[in-house]
Amino acid sequence: MDKMNNINDVIDEILVSEEQIKRRVKELGEEISRDYEGKEVCVMTVLTGSFMFAADIVRALSVPARVMCIFASSYEGTESIGKVDIIKGRGFNVKDKDILIVEDIVDTGRTLSAVTKVLMDEGARSVEICTFLDKPERRVVDLKPKYIGFDIPNKFAVGYGLDYDHRYRQFPFVGVLKSEIYEK
Ligand code: IMP
Ligand code: MG
Repeated sequence: MDKMNNINDVIDEILVSEEQIKRRVKELGEEISRDYEGKEVCVMTVLTGSFMFAADIVRALSVPARVMCIFASSYEGTESIGKVDIIKGRGFNVKDKDILIVEDIVDTGRTLSAVTKVLMDEGARSVEICTFLDKPERRVVDLKPKYIGFDIPNKFAVGYGLDYDHRYRQFPFVGVLKSEIYEK
Protein backbone atom coordinates (compact mmCIF):
# COMPACT_ATOMS: atom_id res chain seq x y z
CA MET A 1 0.00 0.00 0.00
CA ASP A 2 1.24 3.51 -0.81
CA LYS A 3 1.74 5.07 2.60
CA MET A 4 1.27 8.70 1.43
CA ASN A 5 -2.08 7.95 -0.24
CA ASN A 6 -3.10 6.20 2.91
CA ILE A 7 -2.21 9.28 5.01
CA ASN A 8 -4.26 11.63 2.81
CA ASP A 9 -7.22 9.31 3.21
CA VAL A 10 -7.21 9.48 6.98
CA ILE A 11 -5.80 12.87 7.96
CA ASP A 12 -7.60 16.24 7.63
CA GLU A 13 -4.80 18.50 8.80
CA ILE A 14 -1.35 18.22 10.36
CA LEU A 15 -1.27 19.54 13.92
CA VAL A 16 2.39 18.88 14.71
CA SER A 17 5.02 18.10 12.08
CA GLU A 18 7.89 15.63 12.37
CA GLU A 19 10.36 18.54 12.45
CA GLN A 20 8.49 20.31 15.26
CA ILE A 21 8.44 17.06 17.26
CA LYS A 22 12.18 16.57 16.86
CA ARG A 23 12.94 20.11 18.01
CA ARG A 24 10.58 19.96 20.98
CA VAL A 25 11.84 16.55 22.15
CA LYS A 26 15.39 17.90 22.19
CA GLU A 27 14.29 20.96 24.23
CA LEU A 28 12.33 18.83 26.69
CA GLY A 29 15.26 16.42 27.08
CA GLU A 30 17.54 19.33 27.97
CA GLU A 31 15.03 20.86 30.39
CA ILE A 32 14.37 17.55 32.17
CA SER A 33 18.10 16.79 32.36
CA ARG A 34 18.75 20.19 33.98
CA ASP A 35 15.96 19.65 36.52
CA TYR A 36 17.16 16.14 37.47
CA GLU A 37 20.86 16.93 37.53
CA GLY A 38 22.66 14.81 40.13
CA LYS A 39 19.74 12.39 40.32
CA GLU A 40 18.59 9.28 38.52
CA VAL A 41 15.18 9.69 36.91
CA CYS A 42 12.74 6.80 36.69
CA VAL A 43 10.76 7.14 33.47
CA MET A 44 7.30 5.59 33.75
CA THR A 45 6.08 4.95 30.21
CA VAL A 46 2.29 4.88 30.02
CA LEU A 47 1.52 2.25 27.39
CA THR A 48 0.51 1.91 24.72
CA GLY A 49 0.22 5.47 23.45
CA SER A 50 3.50 6.86 24.77
CA PHE A 51 5.85 4.20 23.38
CA MET A 52 7.21 6.46 20.63
CA PHE A 53 7.48 9.66 22.68
CA ALA A 54 9.12 7.79 25.58
CA ALA A 55 11.65 6.20 23.21
CA ASP A 56 12.63 9.65 21.93
CA ILE A 57 12.58 11.37 25.34
CA VAL A 58 14.85 8.83 27.06
CA ARG A 59 17.40 9.21 24.24
CA ALA A 60 17.31 12.99 24.73
CA LEU A 61 18.22 12.73 28.44
CA SER A 62 21.75 13.26 29.68
CA VAL A 63 21.01 12.09 33.25
CA PRO A 64 20.93 8.39 34.19
CA ALA A 65 17.51 6.81 33.89
CA ARG A 66 15.55 3.72 34.70
CA VAL A 67 12.72 2.94 32.30
CA MET A 68 9.58 1.15 33.50
CA CYS A 69 6.08 0.83 32.15
CA ILE A 70 2.49 0.82 33.23
CA PHE A 71 -0.64 0.14 31.18
CA ALA A 72 -3.51 2.55 31.75
CA SER A 73 -6.87 2.83 30.04
CA SER A 74 -9.82 4.94 30.99
CA TYR A 75 -13.49 4.19 30.59
CA GLU A 76 -16.55 6.33 31.12
CA GLY A 77 -18.69 4.92 33.92
CA THR A 78 -22.48 4.92 33.87
CA GLU A 79 -22.69 8.35 35.47
CA SER A 80 -19.77 9.62 33.39
CA ILE A 81 -17.44 9.03 36.33
CA GLY A 82 -14.14 8.03 34.75
CA LYS A 83 -12.85 4.62 35.76
CA VAL A 84 -9.22 3.87 35.03
CA ASP A 85 -7.74 0.38 34.65
CA ILE A 86 -4.08 0.17 35.63
CA ILE A 87 -1.73 -2.78 35.09
CA LYS A 88 1.82 -2.50 36.42
CA GLY A 89 4.64 -3.70 34.18
CA ARG A 90 7.12 -6.41 35.15
CA GLY A 91 9.61 -5.42 37.84
CA PHE A 92 7.54 -2.37 38.73
CA ASN A 93 9.08 -0.83 41.86
CA VAL A 94 8.83 2.90 42.46
CA LYS A 95 9.71 3.09 46.15
CA ASP A 96 11.97 6.09 46.89
CA LYS A 97 12.39 6.84 43.18
CA ASP A 98 11.99 10.14 41.34
CA ILE A 99 9.32 9.25 38.80
CA LEU A 100 8.73 11.02 35.53
CA ILE A 101 5.47 9.84 33.99
CA VAL A 102 5.72 9.97 30.19
CA GLU A 103 2.31 10.10 28.48
CA ASP A 104 1.07 10.67 24.93
CA ILE A 105 -1.84 13.03 25.71
CA VAL A 106 -3.66 14.47 28.70
CA ASP A 107 -7.35 14.99 28.04
CA THR A 108 -9.72 14.98 31.05
CA GLY A 109 -6.73 14.23 33.28
CA ARG A 110 -8.40 11.21 34.90
CA THR A 111 -5.90 8.64 33.64
CA LEU A 112 -2.86 10.42 34.98
CA SER A 113 -4.43 11.38 38.28
CA ALA A 114 -5.14 7.67 38.85
CA VAL A 115 -1.58 6.75 37.76
CA THR A 116 -0.10 9.45 40.03
CA LYS A 117 -2.09 8.12 42.98
CA VAL A 118 -0.81 4.56 42.42
CA LEU A 119 2.80 5.79 42.24
CA MET A 120 2.48 7.90 45.42
CA ASP A 121 0.75 5.03 47.25
CA GLU A 122 3.65 2.75 46.26
CA GLY A 123 6.15 5.11 47.88
CA ALA A 124 7.58 7.17 45.01
CA ARG A 125 9.80 10.01 46.29
CA SER A 126 8.55 12.44 43.65
CA VAL A 127 6.17 12.28 40.69
CA GLU A 128 6.19 14.67 37.73
CA ILE A 129 4.43 14.45 34.38
CA CYS A 130 5.83 14.87 30.90
CA THR A 131 3.09 14.73 28.28
CA PHE A 132 3.62 14.96 24.55
CA LEU A 133 0.24 16.63 23.95
CA ASP A 134 -2.21 18.49 26.17
CA LYS A 135 -5.86 19.38 25.57
CA PRO A 136 -6.25 21.86 28.45
CA GLU A 137 -9.87 22.79 27.55
CA ARG A 138 -11.01 19.24 28.30
CA ARG A 139 -9.67 18.96 31.84
CA VAL A 140 -12.14 17.78 34.52
CA VAL A 141 -9.65 17.08 37.32
CA ASP A 142 -6.93 19.38 38.64
CA LEU A 143 -3.79 18.07 36.92
CA LYS A 144 -0.95 20.20 35.64
CA PRO A 145 1.85 18.43 33.76
CA LYS A 146 5.26 19.98 34.46
CA TYR A 147 6.51 19.29 30.92
CA ILE A 148 4.25 19.68 27.88
CA GLY A 149 5.27 19.10 24.27
CA PHE A 150 2.39 20.91 22.58
CA ASP A 151 -1.05 22.23 23.51
CA ILE A 152 -3.62 21.16 20.92
CA PRO A 153 -7.27 22.11 20.32
CA ASN A 154 -10.12 19.77 21.17
CA LYS A 155 -9.83 17.57 18.07
CA PHE A 156 -9.16 13.84 17.77
CA ALA A 157 -5.47 13.44 17.07
CA VAL A 158 -3.56 10.41 15.76
CA GLY A 159 0.06 9.63 14.98
CA TYR A 160 3.37 9.51 16.90
CA GLY A 161 1.88 6.80 19.14
CA LEU A 162 -1.68 8.14 19.31
CA ASP A 163 -4.26 5.81 17.83
CA TYR A 164 -7.79 5.20 16.74
CA ASP A 165 -8.53 1.51 17.41
CA HIS A 166 -4.74 0.90 17.57
CA ARG A 167 -4.26 2.23 14.04
CA TYR A 168 -2.21 5.24 12.81
CA ARG A 169 0.28 5.11 15.70
CA GLN A 170 3.09 4.73 13.17
CA PHE A 171 2.78 8.22 11.64
CA PRO A 172 5.86 10.31 12.51
CA PHE A 173 3.65 13.45 12.88
CA VAL A 174 0.34 14.27 14.59
CA GLY A 175 -2.75 14.85 12.48
CA VAL A 176 -6.48 15.31 12.94
CA LEU A 177 -8.34 12.13 12.05
CA LYS A 178 -10.98 12.51 9.33
CA SER A 179 -14.44 12.13 10.88
CA GLU A 180 -15.43 9.61 8.15
CA ILE A 181 -13.03 7.17 9.79
CA TYR A 182 -14.84 6.99 13.12
CA GLU A 183 -18.29 7.46 11.61
CA LYS A 184 -17.77 4.37 9.41
P1 IMP B 1 -7.79 11.28 30.10
O1 IMP B 1 -6.79 12.37 30.33
O2 IMP B 1 -7.94 10.35 31.27
O3 IMP B 1 -9.10 11.81 29.62
O4 IMP B 1 -7.35 10.30 28.97
C1 IMP B 1 -6.31 10.45 28.17
C2 IMP B 1 -6.27 9.24 27.27
O5 IMP B 1 -7.32 9.29 26.30
C3 IMP B 1 -4.99 9.27 26.49
O6 IMP B 1 -3.97 8.55 27.15
C4 IMP B 1 -5.40 8.66 25.17
O7 IMP B 1 -5.25 7.26 25.24
C5 IMP B 1 -6.85 9.01 25.01
N1 IMP B 1 -7.03 10.21 24.14
C6 IMP B 1 -7.51 11.41 24.50
N2 IMP B 1 -7.56 12.26 23.46
C7 IMP B 1 -7.08 11.57 22.40
C8 IMP B 1 -6.85 11.92 21.02
O8 IMP B 1 -7.09 13.04 20.53
N3 IMP B 1 -6.34 10.93 20.24
C9 IMP B 1 -6.04 9.69 20.71
N4 IMP B 1 -6.23 9.33 22.00
C10 IMP B 1 -6.75 10.26 22.84
MG1 MG C 1 -2.80 6.90 26.70
